Amino acid sequence: MVTEKILVVGACGQIGVELTLQLRKMYGGANVIASDLREEHPMLKDTGPYIPMDIMNKETFHVLVLRYNITQVYLLAAILSATGEKNPPLAWNLNMQSLLNVLEVAKEEKLHKIYWPSSIAVFGPNSPKQQTPQHTIMEPTTVYGVSKLAGERWCEYYHHRYGVDVRSLRYPGLISYKSAPGGGTTDYAIEIYQDALREGKYECFLKEDTYLPMMYMPDAIRATIELMEADANRISVRSSYNLSAMSFSPKEIGEAIRKHLPAFAISYAPDFRQKIADSWPSSIDDGAAREDWGWAPGYDLERMTVDMLKNIGGSTSGA
Ligand SMILES: NC(=O)c1ccc[n+]([C@@H]2O[C@H](COP(=O)([O-])OP(=O)(O)OC[C@H]3O[C@@H](n4cnc5c(N)ncnc54)[C@H](O)[C@@H]3O)[C@@H](O)[C@H]2O)c1
Repeated sequence: MVTEKILVVGACGQIGVELTLQLRKMYGGANVIASDLREEHPMLKDTGPYIPMDIMNKETFHVLVLRYNITQVYLLAAILSATGEKNPPLAWNLNMQSLLNVLEVAKEEKLHKIYWPSSIAVFGPNSPKQQTPQHTIMEPTTVYGVSKLAGERWCEYYHHRYGVDVRSLRYPGLISYKSAPGGGTTDYAIEIYQDALREGKYECFLKEDTYLPMMYMPDAIRATIELMEADANRISVRSSYNLSAMSFSPKEIGEAIRKHLPAFAISYAPDFRQKIADSWPSSIDDGAAREDWGWAPGYDLERMTVDMLKNIGGSTSGA
């Protein structure tokens, strides 16, 4: 059996930390190299090798792949939706060039598998809002969404043209407590738990009835691993799979928290992120992922709320 050597790029981000730890459990710490622009995340320390790297530098990346006999790359470096609107050229450059660098080296070195996440941001105001299908109108209005949609086309292109085994998921908003979120429009659904426990109140940057597709991080990590472990002949979508777990509004997550913290108060002060949220789906049809490789989510709003309050609050949560 071939020993897989995995490189995680962007390993110190919200998803990267948890994904790296899970991959190290499965493949052994020494076989999963974490890398990022930033300093090593404290949770990764002493769990496996860490190599600082800028993925924009293709040569450095290429040398690292050769030196460590890398067979798989998980590319998580990106600028997210809200941060991207503040500096569109930077978001486009990073999100595109990082992917092209990885796909090119994957082609040249015949790497076994590549993972690259897309997002519900690939959809736009003209896409169906409810149960948005796998294949539908896609006219994103954020630079982040434009870069993700272009990235999906590149993934499919490299697969069909060069046989690169690249796999992808369109993550919904991801909720977690282990590492901080990176500047997305759905970050409110993390801040709300932290402020509920710390302050007893939260001011939300989205309107109360803004429904968005969301997922708890353990589900997102499991979906990623299940997709990457699936037989290649079960992967019919080589752009990116719709992926779904739950959909709720700020008002509903507030009510879910109030069941455990009855004094919790929520107020609303929508900012520029409201416009981004309004352009996105409210819920997602992930039938293709379910059919092709057996996807099924494990967490709904109530189960996630109990777990978030317990883990953020420790003994103070009352949950
Ligand atoms: N978090 C979500 O809710 C969500 C939803 C949909 C899609 N995604 C996608 O998942 C991926 C990971 O997201 P995240 O939430 O973990 O983001 P994040 O911002 O928390 O982490 C990204 C990491 O990439 C690193 N990075 C940035 N530029 C780099 C460079 N030039 N070279 C090397 N590393 C660099 C950053 O330092 C950071 O640690 C991204 O592609 C994102 O678009 C995330």
